[in-house]
Amino acid sequence: MTAKAKVAILISGQGSNMAALLYHARLADCPYEIALVASNNAHAPGLKLAEAEGIPIFVRPHKGMDRAAHDRIMDEAIRGAGAEYVALAGYMRILGDDFVAGWQDRMLNIHPSLLPRYRGLDTHKRAIEAGDTHAGCSVHLVTGELDDGPVLGQMQVATLPEDTPEKLATRVRYAEYQLYPRILAEYVGREMDVGWIEAQVNRLALALPETHFRPSHGSPGWRVGSEKSGKYFAHFSAHHHGSDAIGVLVKTGSIDELETLCEEQPEIYWKPAYYGASGWIGVRLNRANVDWDHVAEWLERSWRSVAPKRLTKLMDAAEEF
Ligand code: GAR
Repeated sequence: MTAKAKVAILISGQGSNMAALLYHARLADCPYEIALVASNNAHAPGLKLAEAEGIPIFVRPHKGMDRAAHDRIMDEAIRGAGAEYVALAGYMRILGDDFVAGWQDRMLNIHPSLLPRYRGLDTHKRAIEAGDTHAGCSVHLVTGELDDGPVLGQMQVATLPEDTPEKLATRVRYAEYQLYPRILAEYVGREMDVGWIEAQVNRLALALPETHFRPSHGSPGWRVGSEKSGKYFAHFSAHHHGSDAIGVLVKTGSIDELETLCEEQPEIYWKPAYYGASGWIGVRLNRANVDWDHVAEWLERSWRSVAPKRLTKLMDAAEEF
């Protein structure tokens, strides 16, 4: 069974979205689990529920602390709990740039409007006053700008003539409970998806000079050089010979290096059948927290080992800058 992605939820209040996320995590096929619920408000009702449900909690009121110091303490608690993603669920505190940068592409937020409309507060009142036929909610990745960042999913909610901000907020929350768990599950699940993983390898491999895609024995592969006489520097391997690994095969310097890596970091490296004998190593990519820069380095190294000299020279010259 593949390990589930660990998520920390940050709340400041009721925590009803937190509840939706955590009950969704109980479904057998949910790809995430809740590692921590953290709050800046010791009286947030959601904390009691999380505790009763056996989820570790962490509380640190921000009063009297500067933003960076408070962010740091929250960040330590989240990482200490082993979380790989952060889900903001009514966390009513602006996060500093360092915190946001540390969770780039790994922090999601739910906002009660159809972004880019109505960033900030009083979203329902503003939607009613504008006479919108539909309000709604959005799940987005968190960037340095408030309620900005790529939208991952939205759900519309019809407004009614007799709506007050409170009535509308209640219905928007029903939509939030459907949307947030689904989008979070899809987002963390994509890292285990073979198509997504292959697309990342493809992007990195084709970013190297004079490369092209060419399947080999029915599996994706990447070559350097001309279409006619190019050489393979990477092969894609998905569940080969019944293994649960999905990853990329790249060239090591020697069988010794290959054996040592496989022995010391078996969670990352494996010796592939057949290819292993000629120095190709498997780098496992269906795991949480893959370091894609590291994968890019492996691809470049493998590329260098078979690329024509004129290309590696060009690369050396470019890297001197
Ligand atoms: C939710 O409606 C959420 O969209 C909103 O706060 C509420 C929290 O309720 N978030 C924001 O306004 C963030 N800008 P909950 O604590 O019951 O989940």
